[in-house]
Amino acid sequence: MELMRVRTVVPLSLPLKTTCATTLGGFELPKGTVVWPNLWALHMDEREWDKPEEFHPERFLNDEGNLKPKPESYLPFSAGRRGCLGEALVKDELFLMFTCLLQQFVFTVPPGAEKPSLVPYCEAFNLRCQKYEVIGRKRNK
Ligand code: HEM
Repeated sequence: MELMRVRTVVPLSLPLKTTCATTLGGFELPKGTVVWPNLWALHMDEREWDKPEEFHPERFLNDEGNLKPKPESYLPFSAGRRGCLGEALVKDELFLMFTCLLQQFVFTVPPGAEKPSLVPYCEAFNLRCQKYEVIGRKRNK
């Protein structure tokens, strides 16, 4: 959850259009207005998150280490009827992929190489990481 917050994969969601006149945050929107949600801004909002630029997975956990209810300001897959259709699939895939890799391998950077940059870049609608070199060593059983 923290990965998907701190480096929002689809930072500007997708553009949508109002199907009727409505109001949003005090603004009147006529029918046919293009609305483009900024999920990056939501996930980096200091009013919603303590030190939003920092990576703190524990912000989603309670004192017992269990998952807290999902904060309203956490929307990596956007929301509503046009929210991401792949959400359930993606969550399971990410969990399986990360746990499998981290159980099997120890990851390091090659000697003398820089750690992967945390500065992302955008390609089409997606945030991507810069290229980096990594060594994956199989863990001893
Ligand atoms: C980390 C991976 C992914 C993220 C963070 C993500 C996020 C998003 C976001 C923010 C939207 C825009 C929703 C909106 O307009 O309100 C979207 C739309 C969509 N996503 Fe994903 N997505 C991911 C992967 C996938 C995958 C794997 C699939 C398919 C298997 C998928 C299928 C779709 C579809 C079909 C839409 C359009 C929904 C519509 O307009 O009704 N996504 N996604």
